Amino acid sequence: MTHPALDMRGITVRFGGILALNEVNLSLAPGSVHALIGPNGAGKTTLVSVLSGERRPNQGTVSLNGRDISGLSALRRARLGLTRTYQLTALFQGLSLRENLLLSLVARDQPSLSALDIFRRRDKARHAAEVEDFLNRFALRDKAGEKPASLSHGDRRRLEIAMALASGPEVLLLDEPLAGLSTSDAEALVRTINEGIRGRIPILLIEHDMDAVFQLSDEITVMVNGTVLANGKPDEIRASPEVQAAYLSEEDDF
Ligand SMILES: Nc1ncnc2c1ncn2[C@@H]1O[C@H](COP(=O)(O)OP(=O)(O)O)[C@@H](O)[C@H]1O
Ligand SMILES: [Mg+2]
Repeated sequence: MTHPALDMRGITVRFGGILALNEVNLSLAPGSVHALIGPNGAGKTTLVSVLSGERRPNQGTVSLNGRDISGLSALRRARLGLTRTYQLTALFQGLSLRENLLLSLVARDQPSLSALDIFRRRDKARHAAEVEDFLNRFALRDKAGEKPASLSHGDRRRLEIAMALASGPEVLLLDEPLAGLSTSDAEALVRTINEGIRGRIPILLIEHDMDAVFQLSDEITVMVNGTVLANGKPDEIRASPEVQAAYLSEEDDF
């Protein structure tokens, strides 16, 4: 049987008297793009912190590809391939985009190497085709020789996601990937996710831009006040009276 890529069962988190999450279940099918949406205070950030291992829930379990990882630290989970997008600070500022991507691929293939050894042993020829594939898929080929600092905001966001993907994750967590981008940069990123990542790896997407959520998602979970209000395909979510009621009353927050 195939396991869900990610399975959260009965997750409950209390902050003093506040029930931030109340027995939340969320299951991510292999290869799917699954959006988590809901108004401010719904519990999205808390759920992601439980998933990444930064916060221990009062109750509930988390499994990655069928393996219970509830007891593992954030670092162990990251090593198992539960990957958040890189911050730009994780990039080598003195190296070109092409070289940064190369180092991610070397690190993926030889996870026990130190950063220095990754740098010393990098073998351009061995990963050349894959590096070019990443540059193409993420629309970064024209910028391949440039340093990260010279990139536009939108290019940088695509590079961060490319680097996360190049490190060989099992599941990618995209936490508001469109935040702060111009309309054209946001459209370019939506295209990149649809054409360059979709189907290769499961993605948990937290995003406020509802147009993007509906364009990108295979499945959507709607949370309100620490509980799951609805879960389903984009069309089902759009047609759900409960979601419409919550959406209309909280429109500004979605
Ligand atoms: N560290 C914290 N201490 C106390 N309450 C918190 C803390 N973090 C979140 N909360 C509360 O938990 C609920 C869910 O918050 P959060 O997960 O940030 O929601 P969202 O990301 O969907 O906006 C809110 O009522 C929020 O006030
Ligand atoms: Mg939040």
